[in-house]
Amino acid sequence: MGTTTGRRRPRLRFARVELKARLLLPSIRRSVAEQARHLRSLGEPQAQRLGEALERIASDHLSPDARAALERVEAARRATLRSLERVSWADGSTESVAWICALASQPPSGARLLHHLAAVWQPRQALELGTCVGVSAAYQAVALRTGTLTTLEAYPALADRAEDTWRLAQIDNARVVVGRFADTLAPTLAEAAWDYAFIDGNHQGRATEGYVEQVSRSAAPGALLALDDIDYNDGMRAAWDSVRQRPDVAASAVVGKIGLLALR
Ligand SMILES: C[S@@+](CC[C@H](N)C(=O)[O-])C[C@H]1O[C@@H](n2cnc3c(N)ncnc32)[C@H](O)[C@@H]1O
Repeated sequence: MGTTTGRRRPRLRFARVELKARLLLPSIRRSVAEQARHLRSLGEPQAQRLGEALERIASDHLSPDARAALERVEAARRATLRSLERVSWADGSTESVAWICALASQPPSGARLLHHLAAVWQPRQALELGTCVGVSAAYQAVALRTGTLTTLEAYPALADRAEDTWRLAQIDNARVVVGRFADTLAPTLAEAAWDYAFIDGNHQGRATEGYVEQVSRSAAPGALLALDDIDYNDGMRAAWDSVRQRPDVAASAVVGKIGLLALR
């Protein structure tokens, strides 16, 4: 899977795929509540907004409609996990779609966190780097009242599976752009004023700093950037320390392994 889905350090990202799985461990819940209180006390509009997003994550409230939509996404995930299909990599080797989905997709807890973020931010144009089979894209797209989500993926076979996920989950506001980020990110950024981005591919520090730089430079004022796996390796930890201090960042927060940047 190219450079990026964690093959070097394989780990299954979830044990259960039910929606009822707990969103936050108690220690992370406490940290989220503390960060929310701090952000709310700053009196800066973007800090307030990020604080509101953290409060929503801590409350983990889902409306009946949202719950039903996310249950459909989990049903689509379960179908993928039962799939016997294999995809071919550039070197000619193959891998099962089920294994890729289990290894690389956000678990229900992380995906629900993204759903809450998108629900509070309500971007008109949401971007995701790293589609895989479309699970996190689905969770975020479901949260958007009028916005659309565009997600970038190197492998056409995975992009096809993502479209299957969205069809099964009855999602019609997500699309995938196929190609490597090096080729697709700049033209995609030029298409719209992006006000939200979830960066979840190629978890290498310098590459991640570059994606943050590229997205921030063309993002709409007040955009939210979410970075997955900020503790994945030394490079990612250094990248997080650096990007959170960017002058265009109004407020930042960490929820588990996801870093959040609210831009000015
Ligand atoms: C961790 S997975 C994404 C999981 C997905 N966001 C989810 O939670 O459902 C990362 C994905 O990014 C893709 N990817 C990694 N590096 C890439 C690159 N340089 N260009 C395009 N896609 C890339 C991989 O093929 C993989 O499908």
